Amino acid sequence: MGEDIPVLYGGTPVRESVLGYGSQSITETEKEAVVDALDGNYITRGPTVEEFEDRVADMVDVDHAVATTSGTTALHLAGAAAGFESGDEVITTPLTFASTAHVATYNDATPVFADIDPHLRSLDPDAVREQVTDDTEGIVPMHYAGQPADIEGLLEVADEYDLTVIWDACHAFGGSWKGEPIGAQRDMVMFSFHPVKNITTGEGGMVVTDDDDIAERLRRLRSFDMEYESDGHDDEPWYQVTEGLGFNYNFTDIQAALGLAQLDRLEEFKQRRDEIIEQYDAAFADIDGIRTPPEPVNSNPMYHLYAIEVGEGFGCDRKEFVNAMHADNIGVQVHYVPLHYHPYFQEEFGYERGQFPEVEAVYDRLVSLPLHAEMEDSDITDVITAVRQLSAYHQ
Ligand SMILES: Cc1ncc(COP(=O)(O)O)c(C=O)c1O
Repeated sequence: MGEDIPVLYGGTPVRESVLGYGSQSITETEKEAVVDALDGNYITRGPTVEEFEDRVADMVDVDHAVATTSGTTALHLAGAAAGFESGDEVITTPLTFASTAHVATYNDATPVFADIDPHLRSLDPDAVREQVTDDTEGIVPMHYAGQPADIEGLLEVADEYDLTVIWDACHAFGGSWKGEPIGAQRDMVMFSFHPVKNITTGEGGMVVTDDDDIAERLRRLRSFDMEYESDGHDDEPWYQVTEGLGFNYNFTDIQAALGLAQLDRLEEFKQRRDEIIEQYDAAFADIDGIRTPPEPVNSNPMYHLYAIEVGEGFGCDRKEFVNAMHADNIGVQVHYVPLHYHPYFQEEFGYERGQFPEVEAVYDRLVSLPLHAEMEDSDITDVITAVRQLSAYHQ
């Protein structure tokens, strides 16, 4: 199979089945770990959750890890633990998944968008500086595709204005920056373990921090904000009361068992992702109009996405590129429709198109090609063939 002409223009498909842009990788070992967990005393939050948390805390070199039901709930709790509340402003990037901004919205604060550095495709420290007001309390940068953001520049802004930083590292688990694991940065770093992410627990998320008080607040809020100390109620052994508005964002021993088994494979996953990236980089280097992801500087990222930019010189625009790939059964995706285009952020906060020129220019060109540890060599070849065919057709 594989004609010289893309199927969109009359050729035959590069492949018969759809290749997704992301996928979990689960072996018998993970399945056995999950079944064993079901035989344990706890199938909700128990000792295996603690073991998973301790292992991640060790890996990213922090004192505390608090696992939650999803990356989204991790973001909610991180904002609550930071003390964000009504009247506060929290600066973040529009080029992200909506949950990043919900650090603010779930806590009744206002998400304030700032433009990106188009090279890294994450928050530009100078653009953040422009958005700071007396009400600004925090910054939520996101490591786009797994490429570390300008960590140094953003921490400088945070220091200048005494802001709390919550790093959305949903894309970046397993990577490092200047020899420091992604996760070790202050004040909090959070991860997602959704199936397309670098490791998975089905659904799941985590906040890591060195701050003892923040960790205590995260743990309390994760589980109903319940007080179990029965001070003054010693003769009432059942005594437990909620002290504030907490949540049930408890991670389970079943998920933790899967997570521990996935952590054993983290290096294997990284190696496979790196191999695929190397092949893509080499295959696309000489194609006009394609910008491959930036070379890592002072970092060893674990990439979640391989996001190229299809620009002038390629011969067709991004929409046609995506449609051509889909017709060839290459399941590309676009990350992300900028948040200031979403009805929710427009209606609630008055955002409109045209406000963030760098984000918009990058968004118009973005396409994520398939990247995951389950990809066979033939899958990589299919993606490369489809892209090269499309380029050749338009030259
Ligand atoms: C950048 C980013 N932030 C937050 C989330 C939310 O994570 P979850 O799906 O685990 O709730 C995701 C993933 O979906 C994401 O990619």
